[in-house]
Parts: sequence; structure tokens; C-alpha cells
Amino acid sequence: MKYLILSDIHSNIQALNKVVDNEKYDRIIFLGDIIGYGADPFLCYKKFLELGGESAMGNHEYGVLNPLSLMNFSENARLGVLHTIKNLPEEYVNHMRNLPEYIQLDDCIFCHSMLDQPLDFSYVFPEDKDSIFLLASYRRMSELGAKIMFTGHTHKPCIFKMTGNEGVEIYPSKDGDIYLDDKLYIINVGSVGQSRNSIPKAHYAVYDTDERKVSFKSVDYNIREAAGRIEEEGLPELLAKRLYLGI
Ligand SMILES: [Fe+2]
Repeated sequence: MKYLILSDIHSNIQALNKVVDNEKYDRIIFLGDIIGYGADPFLCYKKFLELGGESAMGNHEYGVLNPLSLMNFSENARLGVLHTIKNLPEEYVNHMRNLPEYIQLDDCIFCHSMLDQPLDFSYVFPEDKDSIFLLASYRRMSELGAKIMFTGHTHKPCIFKMTGNEGVEIYPSKDGDIYLDDKLYIINVGSVGQSRNSIPKAHYAVYDTDERKVSFKSVDYNIREAAGRIEEEGLPELLAKRLYLGI
């Protein structure tokens, strides 16, 4: 079984279309933040539903449903959520209410952020080897019988490997394949629609469950068009500019 795993689309339909049009897979799973920041939340949510509609709850979906949580958002993030609220039909918002905190398929978990308290949306960056949120997530994975968790949220792809005695090794991800051994892994697949690893492409991963192989991938997409749409919609200029830089 090949899972196509996509996180943090952020209303970037150009990036989403490019990824799904070019990839072969058996099942597609989203890790949340389909909307927010970018120009086209309606088209992205529509496409997500057409593709199967399976996603964990992201903090931007949670922001649409729980306006009080926007107090923790930056000004630009808040404006992106307000743009989403203005452009999504009620039917889609109702669908969003039912997104789960995480999805588990056999020994594999899909979650927007960390697993211990998924709706706290804690940030664990590639350098945060000693994060309590990371260790708590490993504990929860063990309780659930999971060996691997896919996550997003920071928009920075990387691999956290639990090596025993609560030690964690971190590998920066670059495009290519890794084969998993019997340790526990938390794998950040990066962001499709708003890369922040200085590589301005759409980032994602494919997991082959038979081979236990994770392939990190990235593709170019039409950034000019995505940025142009952000300007057309009157969203902050910085949200358009950052797409060119991947920051
Ligand atoms: Fe995000």
C-alpha cells in the first residue's frame, strides 16, 4: 500500500494540483492545514473532498471552528483564517468539524502536530531533540501500538528516530528514500503550499507500507500564479513574497 501524505496545503491550489497530478498512490491522507494563509481555501477544500476527504485536524481548521484560538495566531495567520471563513460554504465548515485529532492505520499514525495533546498544536522544530512534546508523543505512540507517525505543522521536513532509553536522533530530510527499522519514528513531511525550509517547492512524502520505505519528495509549481492570487485577494504581501523564498 502506498500512502501519499500531504500537510499544510494552506489554500495553495497550484501546489496541491501539481503534487496530486504527478504522483501515483493507493490512498491519500492529509495532515491538516488545508486552508489558511493562501488565496484559494474553497478550491483546496473542494479538491481535498474530491480526493477522498481524509485529514487530521490542523490548527488553521481549528481556528476557523474556534475563533478564540486565533488569539495565539500571528496577524497574517489570522487574516488568512478570516479570508477562509469568508470563502468557505457552510457545508465545508461542517465537514471540518468532524476532522479527527489523528488518524491511525495499523501501526501508522497521521497527526498535524504532536500526539499527546493533538489540539494543543505544539511546535517541535528539527533542532528540538529534547522536546517534552516529542517524548510524550513517543509514549502515546507506544500505548497505541504505533511504530511511525507522520506530522507537519512546522513546515520543516525532518526525521526523529527514537533510539531507546528516550534518546532521539534527528536527521534533516532531503529528497530521497529511507527504509525504516524497528525503532519508533516521527516524520515531518514538510509543507505542500508554504515551504519554510528555504527550498521554494511543494514538499510531501510517500510511504510504502510493504517496503517500509518513506520517500521525501518535492516539486516545482507555479509560484507566480499562487502569489498573484494572494495579491488579487488583498491578503498581506508578505504571504505572497515568502512563497518565492520558501520561508
Ligand atoms: Fe501550517
